[in-house]
Amino acid sequence: MYKIQKAEKLADKIFLMDVEAPRVARHCQPGQFVIVKMDEKGERIPLTICDYDREAGTVTIVFQIVGASTDKMAELKEGDYFRDFTGPLGCASEFVEEDLEELKNKKILFVAGGVGAAPVYPQVKWMHERGIDVDVIVGSKTKEMLILEKEMEAVAGNLYVCTDDGSYGHHGMVTSMIEKLVGEGKKYDRCVAIGPMIMMKFVCLLTKKLEIPTIVSMNPIMVDGTGMCGACRLQVGDEIKFACVDGPEFDGHLVDFDQAMKRQLMYKTEEGRAILKLQE
Ligand code: FES
Repeated sequence: MYKIQKAEKLADKIFLMDVEAPRVARHCQPGQFVIVKMDEKGERIPLTICDYDREAGTVTIVFQIVGASTDKMAELKEGDYFRDFTGPLGCASEFVEEDLEELKNKKILFVAGGVGAAPVYPQVKWMHERGIDVDVIVGSKTKEMLILEKEMEAVAGNLYVCTDDGSYGHHGMVTSMIEKLVGEGKKYDRCVAIGPMIMMKFVCLLTKKLEIPTIVSMNPIMVDGTGMCGACRLQVGDEIKFACVDGPEFDGHLVDFDQAMKRQLMYKTEEGRAILKLQE
């Protein structure tokens, strides 16, 4: 059993929890995720690791209510427990593995959409702790839905906030902010985009045109999280990849987002799930 040390509402339908999971906290790296289960029969919910404290043995997760399970999860309070908290799963962000000296010479742009700010945060923090300043664009629908602004401000070289409705920061989508920055003369060697699939798709279409290599973190439906069930399969270039074991990060210019979004939708209905099972 994994105790919830802190439970906080960050915005409408978006929650943060610090969970006691010393083994996960000891081994996790930015980019990895966990699968949580509230009780024996509960749905397995994959969540990217937002932060971790190796000393305290806690892992921070951020989630948005998107269905019955996450709705139930939002009711959990400080002192409650998760039945399972499996991880760290997936591969660490490629930056963790790279040569630090080489990284210091690169201009990196992080783009976070909505709750995607949660998985972007540990990567930006990791860079900051190693003296690497990066530009960060955070986008949300409205000011009220913006999360982790203060935390991000503390670790980003430059932070650019956008809202779709113009209620805060730059009025427009994250893609218009990228165009603005590049138009002002900024040059980037690499982009990391994390957020809703539709956002990642449009960021990738733009960065492909701008010739900025782009990494995305895919969040398809996951079941076992171990590469056995095929639920999280994705078309990446000519290859079939499983987000849970081969990812969650992939070259965004190779990901077939349209197919991934179609699968995501089909998983929402029983009939769709049956069709997908036949295809696997
Ligand atoms: Fe089953 Fe990835 S979740 S193969």
